[in-house]
Amino acid sequence: MIEVRGLSHSFGPKEVLRNINLHVAPGEVLGVMGSSGGGKTTMLRCISGLITPTSGQITVDEVDVKAEPEKARLRMGMVFQGAALFDYLNVEQNVLFGVRRHLSLSKTEEQSLLKDTLSRVNLQGTEDLLPSELSGGMRKRVGIARAIALNPKVLLYDEPTTGLDPITTYQIDELIAELRKTLGITSLVVSHDLLSVQRTADRVAFLHQGEVVFLGTPEDFLVESHPAITEVVEKSQAKSLSTLQ
Ligand SMILES: Nc1ncnc2c1ncn2[C@@H]1O[C@H](COP(=O)(O)OP(=O)(O)OP(=O)(O)O)[C@@H](O)[C@H]1O
Ligand SMILES: [Mg+2]
Repeated sequence: MIEVRGLSHSFGPKEVLRNINLHVAPGEVLGVMGSSGGGKTTMLRCISGLITPTSGQITVDEVDVKAEPEKARLRMGMVFQGAALFDYLNVEQNVLFGVRRHLSLSKTEEQSLLKDTLSRVNLQGTEDLLPSELSGGMRKRVGIARAIALNPKVLLYDEPTTGLDPITTYQIDELIAELRKTLGITSLVVSHDLLSVQRTADRVAFLHQGEVVFLGTPEDFLVESHPAITEVVEKSQAKSLSTLQ
């Protein structure tokens, strides 16, 4: 469903992604971890067509993202780092933002889509609230609702649980798993939370200094010897121990 071949990207002289090769099968959830500044957000932006990469080829559901960015974008939903809601728009306007730009639905159809989408993320009855009136977890849910409103085949999540407490994190992880199960959505989930990745992902990719230094199962990830990976695994184990104590 997602095929990335030889993807490299530079911002001016700074090379941020180096020869990335990835594929994500239909219905699969790929967790993407990596050091901060390692290029994860940049990779998602390249896949979603928001950035045109310096080189490489990306296809999503067999559509070439570079050649047909608009067509490709309609197949994808993006959940931005920090939710990135429009502060001056209420939940309804945020969720229907893309829908109103791309589809011409009647008021009744819009309302039924809104109701259906909000119930998928468990936010029924919040239509009129502004982002400032929502909790952190609710804001992330609105971000997810906006991303699924156009019924995408692929969802790109950028740090969907960052800044959330463990229970809310668990609920968002459950939601990611649920959307994959009920809608069959292929997902790429960037996260720095190993527990979340273990809960949601079939495979893990680790990006370090712009390169994929690991691609495999969550089980193999735990015993991988790359120093940047052992650091993440040890930190996560120490964190879960301190939560238990
Ligand atoms: N628009 C931009 N212009 C110039 N440099 C950029 C731009 N966006 C990102 N970068 C640089 O690219 C590198 C990778 O950034 P990116 O945001 O992709 O990392 P990340 O892995 O998502 O990090 P984090 O875990 O902190 O979110 C960083 O050094 C960043 O400064
Ligand atoms: Mg990022």
